[in-house]
Amino acid sequence: MAKFEPKVILITGCSSGFGLRTAIRLARSGHHVVATMRDLSRSGALIDEVKSFKKEVDLYQLDVTNKKMIKDVVRLIAAKHGYIDVLINNAGYGIGGFFEDLSDEEIRSQFETNFFGVQNVTREVIPCMRQRHSGKIINMSSIAGLSAIPSFGAYNASKWALEGFSESLRYEMKIWGIDVVMVEPGTYKTKIFYENAHRARNFSHPDSPYHSISKFLDKKVMNYVNGCDKDVEDVSKLVEKLINAKNPPFRNIPDIETKVLYCLRRILPFPLYSKMIFKTLFAGYKFPHKK
Ligand SMILES: NC(=O)c1ccc[n+]([C@@H]2O[C@H](COP(=O)([O-])OP(=O)(O)OC[C@H]3O[C@@H](n4cnc5c(N)ncnc54)[C@H](OP(=O)(O)O)[C@@H]3O)[C@@H](O)[C@H]2O)c1
Repeated sequence: MAKFEPKVILITGCSSGFGLRTAIRLARSGHHVVATMRDLSRSGALIDEVKSFKKEVDLYQLDVTNKKMIKDVVRLIAAKHGYIDVLINNAGYGIGGFFEDLSDEEIRSQFETNFFGVQNVTREVIPCMRQRHSGKIINMSSIAGLSAIPSFGAYNASKWALEGFSESLRYEMKIWGIDVVMVEPGTYKTKIFYENAHRARNFSHPDSPYHSISKFLDKKVMNYVNGCDKDVEDVSKLVEKLINAKNPPFRNIPDIETKVLYCLRRILPFPLYSKMIFKTLFAGYKFPHKK
């Protein structure tokens, strides 16, 4: 068996969900985890669990939309460890709402975190990796970056953009021996659907032309999410596997259900696939234009 070599791993969005579970898993394995979050008062769960198995993590405040904060954190890591082996761009959120209910500002904010936020952190970290001709960048995308659904267009677009950016960056980083990989989970019951859920300001406005269909779809999506029993830990396990792999695949879907969906997306003719999505989501809804 190969000797375990602890890596310096920077993770964004560690206050909950995948980021929290991944930081804990990697710390337990013995890596030097640099866990970041935009509000350090939310670090209790992370600190307590890491302490319980007598390990430590470096904890820094970091909002991925704040370039100064990112620069400062990367400088601190360089001063303490001298390098960064792995960057996990995990921070993100999703805004729900039909396009006409979403303001420009809401769509741009979605991109500021899920797309430009990833670029902001990646831009600061690449030089540390480039100098050593090694490193791994793991971007938390989503099945939403590969297959769209109505009322999540802003989120879909932000993850779709992340997919395109990451695919291009993968080629560019090969020059330096740096690997770029994606993780594309399906639905997991995390705070993203509850405390951290965002909805368009006009989402529940009674004057919105989408008022009733938004409510219908929201109920359907939340019923589905509430019934999801996939283990969040599977995502952190997959991330650890990607860190340990010499030549990890570019696209990585942790759960079988989402693997099947993505397979259908690729093999079915699009008219058939989109009919399936439409029928599944809107079954039971009475459309006003249909007599
Ligand atoms: N759960 C799913 O079904 C699912 C599926 C596919 C992909 N994903 C992706 O997985 C990633 C993690 O989501 P999750 O499910 O673990 O949700 P979560 O529990 O809501 O965690 C999201 C994390 O991102 C942080 N965050 C949000 N905006 C930030 C910003 N501007 N700067 C720094 N941190 C920020 C949050 O911090 P605060 O505590 O400060 O809000 C939180 O720590 C996201 O990129 C999401 O799109 C999730």
